[in-house]
Amino acid sequence: HRDLLGIGQLERHEILFLLDEAEQWVALNRQRTKHSDALAGLTIINAFFENSTRTLLSFEIAGKRLGADVVNMHAAQSSVKKGETLIDTAITLNAMRADAIVIRHGSSGATGLIADKVDCPVLNAGDGQHEHPTQALLDALALRHALRDRGETADDFTGLVIVICGDILHSRVARSNLLCLQALGATVRLCAPPALMPSGIEGMGAEVFHDFDAALHGADVAMMLRLQTERMSGQFIPSAREYHHLYGLTKARLEKAKSDTLVMHPGPMNRGVEIDSEVADMIDRSIITRQVEMGVAIRMACLDVLTRRARGVEGWGDVA
Ligand code: CP
Repeated sequence: HRDLLGIGQLERHEILFLLDEAEQWVALNRQRTKHSDALAGLTIINAFFENSTRTLLSFEIAGKRLGADVVNMHAAQSSVKKGETLIDTAITLNAMRADAIVIRHGSSGATGLIADKVDCPVLNAGDGQHEHPTQALLDALALRHALRDRGETADDFTGLVIVICGDILHSRVARSNLLCLQALGATVRLCAPPALMPSGIEGMGAEVFHDFDAALHGADVAMMLRLQTERMSGQFIPSAREYHHLYGLTKARLEKAKSDTLVMHPGPMNRGVEIDSEVADMIDRSIITRQVEMGVAIRMACLDVLTRRARGVEGWGDVA
């Protein structure tokens, strides 16, 4: 593949290849001097049409640690505000001879549209309710490391039961993680109020729950998602207080799952709504900050691997 538009385009061996490639960058990022010249002379444009903290910063840090020149385009300060179309923005970025373009956009499929118009690899940094592939990859890498720290073999997730609980309907993170975790052998349980569960999602092989306690029973991992109120249009949802009562991850609830259930959250968190602080900050169970750490390494791996063909370096073309 030239682009990384979704986990849905990747085979299991390609997912594992990207996770394995990221390990060298995890090691580099833990050193005092975090620098490689792998992408020296290349220009990477991060074009973000939606807000971001983790994804934008980690893509920027990833590109810089690989020696590339990195430029960020924030839609709010761009000519998008003057009525420029997405296609014209894409053509403009392409004319500047970017070597990779990273896009976040509020519309599902927007990254694919841009990929069709440009000559360089496009990486999806989140498109509408569709996919957020690097989030799923970093989540898998964080889980792999957490399991290894416990002395468990974690090349894939066969036998693991993973609950994804929250606003599944609006979540590109849930979709990408469902695809990624299933490809790696896990059983995925999706849990949400009925109004926030996409109809027909069972067809993707997920187990569907509306009762969070039942979903948590015997679970190895609880991945919590926030309510994406900015994407809601008239769905009946409980108040924040009621939502917390029914679907919030509290310490008492976590204790009823398994004694070693891991806690994940892609961020940004709404503490006291979908997750309590005492759970989010649990040193032995929460791997939320590790997810952020792995985000830089995964984005380094994706930028490195996707630009290999243009740099004349073997690797991705052989497996993809
Ligand atoms: N998880 C995630 O995508 O976070 P940001 O919206 O801060 O990038």
